[in-house]
Amino acid sequence: MRFRVRPIRQLQGAAEVPGDKSVSHRAALLGALAEGVSEVQGYLEAEDCLRTLTAVQALGAEVTRKGPGHYRIAGGGLHGLSEPADVIDCGNSGTTARLLAGVLATQPYWTMLTGDASLRRRPMGRIAEPLRAMGATIVGRADGTRLPLAVRGAAPTRAGRYATPVASAQVKSAILLAGLAAEAPVTVTEPAPSRDHSERMLRRFGARVATGDCTVTLTPGPLRATAVAVPGDISSAAFLLVAGAVVGAGRVIVHRVGVNPTRTGVLDVLAAMGAGIETTNVADEGEPTASLSVTAGALAPTTIGGPLLIPRLIDEIPVLAVAAAAAAGVTVVSDARELRVKESDRIAALGRELARMGVAVEERADGMAITGGRRLRGAAVASGGDHRMAMALAVAGLVAEGETIVDDVACVATSFPAFAETINALAGTTAITTEP
Ligand code: S3P
Repeated sequence: MRFRVRPIRQLQGAAEVPGDKSVSHRAALLGALAEGVSEVQGYLEAEDCLRTLTAVQALGAEVTRKGPGHYRIAGGGLHGLSEPADVIDCGNSGTTARLLAGVLATQPYWTMLTGDASLRRRPMGRIAEPLRAMGATIVGRADGTRLPLAVRGAAPTRAGRYATPVASAQVKSAILLAGLAAEAPVTVTEPAPSRDHSERMLRRFGARVATGDCTVTLTPGPLRATAVAVPGDISSAAFLLVAGAVVGAGRVIVHRVGVNPTRTGVLDVLAAMGAGIETTNVADEGEPTASLSVTAGALAPTTIGGPLLIPRLIDEIPVLAVAAAAAAGVTVVSDARELRVKESDRIAALGRELARMGVAVEERADGMAITGGRRLRGAAVASGGDHRMAMALAVAGLVAEGETIVDDVACVATSFPAFAETINALAGTTAITTEP
């Protein structure tokens, strides 16, 4: 499947984005581990999060779809899951694989996990190591550091302090989930704060969680079912906001977006680049939400780096690179080595694909320098099977001269299935055509 993208002059109007991917995964997993029936609204019905729902069903949780994004999940408690009859396929979803491994670390039977070619390349030692230290047995490819992995849990898991070498919410969450069935409190420390959706949702499900500076302590205990309202995904909204900022004219507003401060780095960077960003209608639904608007205008280059900022926008760097390509001058991204182990090596992919559109990108080990300001050139580019690359390149196509073909875009279904339709509605014309 490919996108044929035509340049447009204006993007105008209001939009909504589908549910937050991180929050949806956690709702499915905690719902399955809780006692009672949890009601989830706004669940992201895209491939990654549907993998997590299928996985918890395979482990014996009862999942009922009540309507679009509306699910009832009947969990059997921390020890109410059972051995799945087959291998669990996590597809493209790193969050499914890593968080589920944390859950499985407490389940005293063997479960096999695998994923697609991209996920089988991604590092799993970062969760396997601490989970083994907590008592789980984990074996698999590449000395137990790559999928397929087989996990046999321990009950109880070992308490203690676990330090993660990377600021990764997936690693932190895997340890916390394994800690739910530990013999005593479990503390995770990370080098910089990562997204805190697990901590927030664990509390909603009745867990005792204490947070400090880069430290989380969980006191083991049962979870009780609750209601979860999933906010719109700021990582999906980012494509609309950057598109709104770079396309010649108009104002785009995205309603009910999750604005958890551990996720809003994209807003800080767009503001630093001079985009007219406004936050209104702030509300609290367990996670903070708001309407986010952007007004088109000239952008200035900036620097994107540092351990406090990078985890707050790591998934938005592909689309921020497009904003940088539109800003006259050099934008430098640093401290973002993690980009190399996402759904694709996003540093290499941005260097390669944006170059085809006439953008000078100097690749660095931990980031890139992007020289922007020249009109982008319509070209044939490819996502490499990475959903965020596919959507970022389509946004680039909206401001390029001539037509852009983005190949390999079925992966957009991973997180934002209605991306093209949403852009077209804001453009008031068919800017993006999806072709088989
Ligand atoms: C996620 C954490 C981040 C992020 C990913 C989702 C999560 O990954 O890139 O898209 O839901 O916990 P890392 O934990 O690897 O930083």
